[in-house]
Amino acid sequence: MIKDAYEKLFSSNEVSVREKLLKLLDATHILAKPPHFPAQVYSHIPGETTELGDVGTHFGYVLKDGSTNVAKAPNGREYPLYPNTMFSFPDAIKIAGKARMRIFTALGQKGLMNITGDIGDWGRQNYIDGCTSTLHISPVMKGDACMNSLYFPEAVEQTQHTHPSIRAGIVSSGEGICKTPVGDIPLQEGNSFFLPPETWHSFHTVKGKTLGVVAFHPDSDFGPTHEDHPMLNRTHFAFLHKLKSALRVRQAGK
Ligand SMILES: [Fe+2]
Repeated sequence: MIKDAYEKLFSSNEVSVREKLLKLLDATHILAKPPHFPAQVYSHIPGETTELGDVGTHFGYVLKDGSTNVAKAPNGREYPLYPNTMFSFPDAIKIAGKARMRIFTALGQKGLMNITGDIGDWGRQNYIDGCTSTLHISPVMKGDACMNSLYFPEAVEQTQHTHPSIRAGIVSSGEGICKTPVGDIPLQEGNSFFLPPETWHSFHTVKGKTLGVVAFHPDSDFGPTHEDHPMLNRTHFAFLHKLKSALRVRQAGK
């Protein structure tokens, strides 16, 4: 396709060289504006109250060396946030307590309330270079934010890579090194990290040391849609009834 665009453009004398180059770059999608997934990152100061507004979904992780914090909802309900667990709150919430905590807000997103159990010390899914990860808080709809844990065994030399959106998180256990274009950054339990989109990086561990991190993603390429979700996919009925149902959905959408 690129070759065709090149030959078409450069065989014409009606377009300037600058315009030809711009059109060629456009054909490669190099000039395409990357999607932006706005997010904010906070630290809860132990002993103080962190007030989070009704601006999106708030995700977080409570460090395991701390005590238990409390999340106070506008309706008066209170939820304990135990050490080494994650949470998400889709609306305004106040957080109080002495535990250290990182909070990541996916602005403009309407997630669900979740409070997880202990995040464990090994992932349920395979990741690159012998590492594992667990998707603890799933996207509510395809494309939404999610919370993951990621585990590195000892002596890992992770392959350099990038991500299309920010990665923000915290070291939940162990220690290691994050190699970036601006240098090697030592990581220890409790340290936070933030990687802008498309930043080259890799995580490394030495012999005898493992590393666990919590990673917030403001977007995903995964999750249910209106046309593809377990409730719908596992509902089987006759073809004629299917047509009638589709018609009702279409009429309801008007
Ligand atoms: Fe990464």
